[in-house]
Amino acid sequence: MQGWVWHRRDMGGLIFIDLRDRAGFVQCVFDPSRAPDSHAVAHEWRSEYVVQIEGKVVERTPENVNPNLPNGDIEVQVLSGELLALAETPSFVIEEDSRASEDLRLKQRFLDLRRPPLQRALRLRHELGLAARNLLDEHGFYEIETPMLTRSTPEGARDYLVPSRIHPGKFYALPQSPQLFKQLLMISGYDRYFQIARCFRDEDLRSDRQPEFTQIDIEMSFVTAADVRQVTETLVERLLEVSGHSGQVRFGELSFPEAIDRYGSDRPDLRIRQELCDVTEAFVDSGFRAFAQAAALEGNAIKALRVPGGGAWGRTRFDKLTDEAKKAGAKGLVWIKLNDGAFTSPVAKFLGDAALQDLATRTGALDGDAILLVADEWEVAATSLGVLRSQLAASEGWIGDGMQFVWVTEFPLLKRSDEHGRYVARHHPFTNPVPEDLDLLEQDPLAVRAQSYDLVLNGVELGGGSIRIHRADVQERVFRAMGIEAQEASEKFGFLLRALTFGAPPHGGIALGFDRIVMMMAGLKSLRDVIAFPKTTSAADLMMEAPGDATPDQLEDLHIAVRVQTEVGADPPDEGV
Ligand code: AMO
Ligand code: AMP
Repeated sequence: MQGWVWHRRDMGGLIFIDLRDRAGFVQCVFDPSRAPDSHAVAHEWRSEYVVQIEGKVVERTPENVNPNLPNGDIEVQVLSGELLALAETPSFVIEEDSRASEDLRLKQRFLDLRRPPLQRALRLRHELGLAARNLLDEHGFYEIETPMLTRSTPEGARDYLVPSRIHPGKFYALPQSPQLFKQLLMISGYDRYFQIARCFRDEDLRSDRQPEFTQIDIEMSFVTAADVRQVTETLVERLLEVSGHSGQVRFGELSFPEAIDRYGSDRPDLRIRQELCDVTEAFVDSGFRAFAQAAALEGNAIKALRVPGGGAWGRTRFDKLTDEAKKAGAKGLVWIKLNDGAFTSPVAKFLGDAALQDLATRTGALDGDAILLVADEWEVAATSLGVLRSQLAASEGWIGDGMQFVWVTEFPLLKRSDEHGRYVARHHPFTNPVPEDLDLLEQDPLAVRAQSYDLVLNGVELGGGSIRIHRADVQERVFRAMGIEAQEASEKFGFLLRALTFGAPPHGGIALGFDRIVMMMAGLKSLRDVIAFPKTTSAADLMMEAPGDATPDQLEDLHIAVRVQTEVGADPPDEGV
């Protein structure tokens, strides 16, 4: 056997070594009376040395059997041992749990990857990838690769650019997804495509977002949304099976308006029972001016969240919640406590007892509870309270067990973008509107629904897709609704508009976040735990020290001059995870 020295116990006479490799570990016994040479060798061995042994597999004596280990009833009596490579003392322990900082572990990722949880995660990742490929093959899909060096594909993030040497001043963009290529493959008659595709997005990172990540990307011709969802469910069921999750799963469905209204999120975690309620009606004739005005405005709403046990909380706790609500876009947060039949709230005197009682009835608040209220445009009011709902669920233990899958459908096609001062696609610009809504595109763009669907698991967006536009005239109308005029459309997407005029089949698809699937199936909290060489939240690779500098020669070749602007007093980028 060959492997790494893991644990070593020198009992004076006997030496025990756990020899570790990818498959696990086995206890090896060095007995000076049986093999004196090997015992002398093992005396020198230390953690993480690479060694080779020969010996005899024997049953352990009954008192030494460890029923908690798969091979706890055997051990190896070593006859000879040989050192293959020395190892420095690792700067953190190679164990199930490491308490070393993640920064240190990412700097020495080659050591961190030896730890059993990462070995298990990467093995699961391999098995899930293989299962996905096999299942999609069984369903008639071809795996087709698409370019990495390409042009911008608008998925709503910033592009990573690659300067061209041969074309001075020009840049490739790394794909944010293979979206346009897979649509072109449908137009080229490939009918059913998939790819385990690497995607690149320069966006603000968090624990479930990496700058480069992997999608199981799918596209099909001559299908409805139901067909794409069916294939996706079959695939997810197979992946659950492979990762050892038994039992029936149910795929629920919520429309976007219902998801926002009830959970304040378009990726609701249905393990959390608490729902938002709409209390707009309660404020129609209220003496609380700010809320009465909001109640009277078209498109506004007053949303409420009941907090069981919140009656016991102090002011600072509510101040913190108010800050969180504001970060999530709310103008403020009203809180009301109900204790011993009496209400406390900074705005109690504006509301009056009758209104407070009415609110308690509508929200189902009981003695000892608190009620949180936000008035705003419907979506803002609901989503800011939705953020509090998720945060409180985590801190107050409202999160139930299980895997709650839900399809979110009937998204609006467009949303207003303050940054761009116009409408932008909620999914991407190639998403087909619901046919009945098509004629609203010019009069009431925000009312147009998309034929899109997101698959959500326990509050995490696993995947998203849509039925695509397959007619050039519709695509041009949608571009126009987003303020992309003919000239710009033809410059950016001329190839697509042209392709659509050469016989494009109706088509649609989906992309599932593969890293997120592995993370969820392994029950882990961070994508970094399922990616061999991940990046920090500041998009750095601490081991490779990427991004790094380019040499003057490289820059010369690329026709690039670098001028770094540092703002006075600006903090250096945070290199933490
Ligand atoms: P979308 O942008 O919704 O759709 O992406 C699909 C899925 O990819 C995963 N994902 C990510 N995972 C890790 N890090 C990221 N930064 C990241 N960004 C996205 C999510 C998400 O649900 N072309 C369309 C799909 C289609 O229409 O077929 C697309 O890319 O799990
Ligand atoms: P004001 O009348 O602006 O002093 O606000 C009184 C209280 O109502 C404060 O606690 C604010 O945080 C809260 N508040 C103001 N506007 C809103 C709103 N749109 N939604 C929820 N709370 C609000």
